[in-house]
Amino acid sequence: MDGMISELRGSLGEAGVLLDAERMEGYLVDQRDLVRGRAAAILRPSSTEQVQAIMRLASRYGVGIVPQAGNTSYCAGATPDTSGRQMVLSLERLNKVRSVDPLDAALSVDSGVILQHAQDAADAAGLMLPISLGSEGSCRIGGIIGTNAGGLSVLRYGMTRDLILGLEVVLPDGSLVNDMKRLRKNNTGYDIKQNFVGAEGTLGIVTGAVLKMIPKPTHHATAWVCLAEDVPLPEMLALVRRETGDLVSSFELITPRSLALVAPPDGPLKSGSGGVVLVELACSSSRIPVVEVMEGVMGDVFEAGWAEDVMIAQSDAQRADMWRLRETIPEGEKHHGGSVKHDISVPIGRTVEFLKVGGAAVAAYDPTLELSVYGHIGDGNLHYNLLVPKGDDRLRFTDRIGRELAPQLYDIAAGMGGSFSAEHGVGRLKRRLLQHYADPNRYRVLRGLKGLFDPLDVMNPGAMVDPATGLSGQE
Ligand code: MLT
Ligand code: ZN
Repeated sequence: MDGMISELRGSLGEAGVLLDAERMEGYLVDQRDLVRGRAAAILRPSSTEQVQAIMRLASRYGVGIVPQAGNTSYCAGATPDTSGRQMVLSLERLNKVRSVDPLDAALSVDSGVILQHAQDAADAAGLMLPISLGSEGSCRIGGIIGTNAGGLSVLRYGMTRDLILGLEVVLPDGSLVNDMKRLRKNNTGYDIKQNFVGAEGTLGIVTGAVLKMIPKPTHHATAWVCLAEDVPLPEMLALVRRETGDLVSSFELITPRSLALVAPPDGPLKSGSGGVVLVELACSSSRIPVVEVMEGVMGDVFEAGWAEDVMIAQSDAQRADMWRLRETIPEGEKHHGGSVKHDISVPIGRTVEFLKVGGAAVAAYDPTLELSVYGHIGDGNLHYNLLVPKGDDRLRFTDRIGRELAPQLYDIAAGMGGSFSAEHGVGRLKRRLLQHYADPNRYRVLRGLKGLFDPLDVMNPGAMVDPATGLSGQE
């Protein structure tokens, strides 16, 4: 290890290798303070060539490298294990916007660029990078690619995977796959780059990306829909999409308990008996009267008996107030004392059914538990969280729910054709869930792919899957 560290110092310089405990601390714990690891060093390369040098050494010395971008994972995907033998590779110094190409609507960036800075670069060119997340001020491009992040507008623009035109990736042996093209069409064999999207740094290290942009939406209509009881939300979504000419960019559910965590009781934005849906239309043309379109469709929603009240934002400030409430719910949960997060995905048509059956399971387990449910119901993703009861120990509660109740919720989702992880990934915390719920042949191929790319298991060892030899997945 000492030999590797002195070679690393030679290639990265002093600023590129952190060894003292105080400076290492922030890289060793996940953002929710659930998992704490140790590391032999924190590496901070400032170029793709330095990342290549690191991986060559890691392969030679057999040292595990844990890539870390903004360190905002909910599954400890970027936290080293406790052996003290792994090294964290922080992408934070790979932070240049490489080019903005308006005619190709393509944005080329280093993987350590903060999402918001990438959004700003697109905005300055009159375009938009359509990935929107609560953590956009601190998460980095490499992390959103590694986790195939979703967020608030997936129903219109897709997951991160759908926005990737090109990638630059350092393989475990230090060689470089340069596929930084900005082509929309390129049918020339396997789409290798997609293997690295959602791979959580277990196959290679993404150092650069070309991302799709879209014409900047300059006109919005945002509605705060106070729901009646038992609204068939999938039908409502279908109607709103159809009647707006598919201009819907967000369709977010907020249940009353989640809203109460963040909304002042005397504030203007209230819940309906069935909670709230925040609907947004986005459009880049002034020729389309989005607010009138929204008013018309909300009339239909009323007529169907689905809304008790609807407020359409009359100003940017009102729109921002609505979004602030939605986006600060995770913060509100933290402030309450924490929550156990379940990032459930089910087919859109079964979301309401999941809410009913899941709610019944929680009530049967312990009727005093409080659910905070919200999220991207427009794409089938529910943040189905349990609030830590006052006075209970957060870690003990998390452990108990993980053992006793979460399996029931995941089984219900799986029985509906759903998933235990919609957009938060697998990391170190959900490895066993992956093994349990994945189709056995899919799991076998996952392990085979890991073994093919990373036979020495130096790429984020311990996250997601262990390698196996050959696509047949034999040990
Ligand atoms: C969100 O949609 O707000 C996040 O994905 C959920 C979270 O931060 O837990
Ligand atoms: Zn989310």
